[in-house]
Amino acid sequence: MVWPVVYNPTQRQLSALKTLLFLVCLLPLARLGWGLWSDQLGANPIEFITRSLGTWTLNFLLITLTVSPLRKLTGWHWLLRLRRMLGLFAFFYVMLHLTTYLWLDQFFDWTAIVKDILKRPFITVGMSAFVLLVPLAATSNHAMIRRIGGRRWQQLHRSIYVIAIFAVVHYWWLVKKDVTLPALYAVLLALLLGMRALWREQERRQQLAHVSPLAKKRGKVIPIAARQ
Ligand code: HEM
Repeated sequence: MVWPVVYNPTQRQLSALKTLLFLVCLLPLARLGWGLWSDQLGANPIEFITRSLGTWTLNFLLITLTVSPLRKLTGWHWLLRLRRMLGLFAFFYVMLHLTTYLWLDQFFDWTAIVKDILKRPFITVGMSAFVLLVPLAATSNHAMIRRIGGRRWQQLHRSIYVIAIFAVVHYWWLVKKDVTLPALYAVLLALLLGMRALWREQERRQQLAHVSPLAKKRGKVIPIAARQ
């Protein structure tokens, strides 16, 4: 299915769009800065900041995962050119989220931090998501793609699915009573991952349909992933 509205921005429009998106992505941080300045973050500003930064990390992870399906549904291939920025914003917000935790919550007491990571499962899984996110951020530029090779880069960047699952689990486990919001994120993520799995399976079947029965029998069918 392809969205009926054809939209292909020019290079200049795309650059303007990227600048606009960059500014929009900074809005959650600006909001926090303003709240802190005007003393509007409630009785526990540190908790407010930590939670808000965590929420925006998760939002950016899911928004990044939405780009590919959206591109497929609309036929707007240029959307892919916004994906790296969105992914890097997820990393930017998790860095701030982690820094708030290490600094304002734990006062850089490394023994307490290690104990906390080992003792509280939601911290363990959050930290795992962060550790997995580091190589993705580090290899997000074109030079790195060239250096490690497209196929290996793609395989590495598939860990974004595990990261997103860990992120939702982190949220689910830290919530004490009402799990409505984490459940909503879980449903969204399941939809995004489900769509990908479905399309992948469809592609596999289509490719199998074009292979001669003899090749199928001999197991000479090269999986799609290996062909990219
Ligand atoms: C991809 C990685 C991560 C994501 C997506 C994420 C997301 C979140 C979310 C959504 C929340 C709850 C927000 C709310 O209650 O409204 C949160 C809270 C929190 N996260 Fe993370 N987080 C991540 C990594 C980490 C890491 C690495 C740490 C520390 C090692 C951490 C520590 C915390 C803490 C301490 C809270 C607040 C818990 C509370 O107030 O009870 N998170 N995070």
